[in-house]
Amino acid sequence: MVVIVYITTIILSSSIIDTENIFSRNNIIVLVVLVLVTYIISAIVSNKVTLPLKRIEKGMKLVSEGKFPDVSRLKADRDIAEYKDLIRSYIAMLRVIKKNTFDLNSQQNKTEIILEHMADGVIAFSTERQVVHMNKAAMRMLNITDSDDSFERICKKLNLNIEFDQIMYLPNYQSLELKAEMGELALSIVFAPFFSDELNPMGIIMIVRNITDSVKTDNVRKEFVANVSHELKTPLTSIRGYSETIMNGDLTYQEIIKFSKVINQEANRMSRLVSDLLQLSKMDYNKLSFNKVSLNTVDVLKRVCEKVRYEAEQKSHKLELICAENVPNIYVDKDSIEQIVINILTNSIKYTPDGGLIRIYAGPYEDRVYIKVIDNGIGIPQKDLDRIFERFYRVDKARSRKMGGTGLGLSIVKEMVDGNDGTIKIDSKLDEGTEVTMTFPTPKK
Ligand SMILES: Nc1ncnc2c1ncn2[C@@H]1O[C@H](COP(=O)(O)OP(=O)(O)OP(=O)(O)O)[C@@H](O)[C@H]1O
Ligand SMILES: [Mg+2]
Repeated sequence: MVVIVYITTIILSSSIIDTENIFSRNNIIVLVVLVLVTYIISAIVSNKVTLPLKRIEKGMKLVSEGKFPDVSRLKADRDIAEYKDLIRSYIAMLRVIKKNTFDLNSQQNKTEIILEHMADGVIAFSTERQVVHMNKAAMRMLNITDSDDSFERICKKLNLNIEFDQIMYLPNYQSLELKAEMGELALSIVFAPFFSDELNPMGIIMIVRNITDSVKTDNVRKEFVANVSHELKTPLTSIRGYSETIMNGDLTYQEIIKFSKVINQEANRMSRLVSDLLQLSKMDYNKLSFNKVSLNTVDVLKRVCEKVRYEAEQKSHKLELICAENVPNIYVDKDSIEQIVINILTNSIKYTPDGGLIRIYAGPYEDRVYIKVIDNGIGIPQKDLDRIFERFYRVDKARSRKMGGTGLGLSIVKEMVDGNDGTIKIDSKLDEGTEVTMTFPTPKK
């Protein structure tokens, strides 16, 4: 193109050149103008020709910085024949890179969101043993605020005696599980090495799982089995011992009666234990239905008082029922409300020295009814109050057992109160007495 312009200019100018004096002033001016015109034309032409290339180059630079160029101007250059294919391929390439980058970013975002919202803690360590990623759950469980941590420091914090290389070179891509404790948390820690596509080791992944609840449940289960076995073993040992003694003969009639009474007492205790356990198990599996009806509160309490009066009189206790005027009805299951109050009253009778005073109060409380049992018995130490509703929990095991107790009474009470939408609270002072306050719903108007 430049060459064509140049030749045309020479042909045109040849007509105005003074051929007689080649170095005349005129000729020099014509030559300078000629050179200038040629330069300007060639500059314009070459600029038009190289501009698309410059745009492509600039675009590539932007791509390498992770940005995407505007290709609208480049599209306009597509009519330059020489660049048609190049521009088309360049724009197509940009489109592919843009799509792949978007796919990659959304995949990464998805992974990050999953990691951040996982209940398990996830930490990735580089081969230099530094943390390269740590999700919120891991930070929370391990009480770490700074992700700039290392494998050694984290293992030390968890009291884990394990070397980085031990995990890094585990055979056949296996993982390693360890147990650890962090304050009140019981943790399961799984370590596994991770590799690049070319199977080069890239570091270690550590998964931290909070297993506190399952450890607690496991302990409760073990404790429960141990308690049941113990509670059954004690009466069984007495029954066996006394029955063998009777069978061996050489006993007076009085002795036989005495030993038989013990056998009978122990057998009763065993059957009470089994029926209490059955009742708890029914409640655990929601098999016990609470058939709620409207009941006259005072009538319920009077009935219950009559049922325990004999037991109270045996220990010379004074039993008083004090009800406010117009106590509203309660909306509860008839059998369970009786059992709840009987269990509470039996405790007061049992754990109050002879000649005690047991008072039952009832009255309206906001839109509910309260029932309060107050005794002046031995009381419960403050430290035991929190655990008093636990199965088999007894303040003084020996004393409770001597009184025929199994330690299940209050746990049954708690389940039944909950089943009847009630509330229960126990306040007590050692050697002064105990106060049990319950509230129950009234029938809906
Ligand atoms: N009114 C009370 N005064 C003093 N201690 C009490 C009173 N009520 C309960 N306790 C204590 O709480 C423990 C748990 O009571 P709970 O009724 O669950 O079991 P228990 O009376 O020993 O046996 P069970 O009721 O199964 O026959 C008792 O062993 C006793 O130590
Ligand atoms: Mg009891």
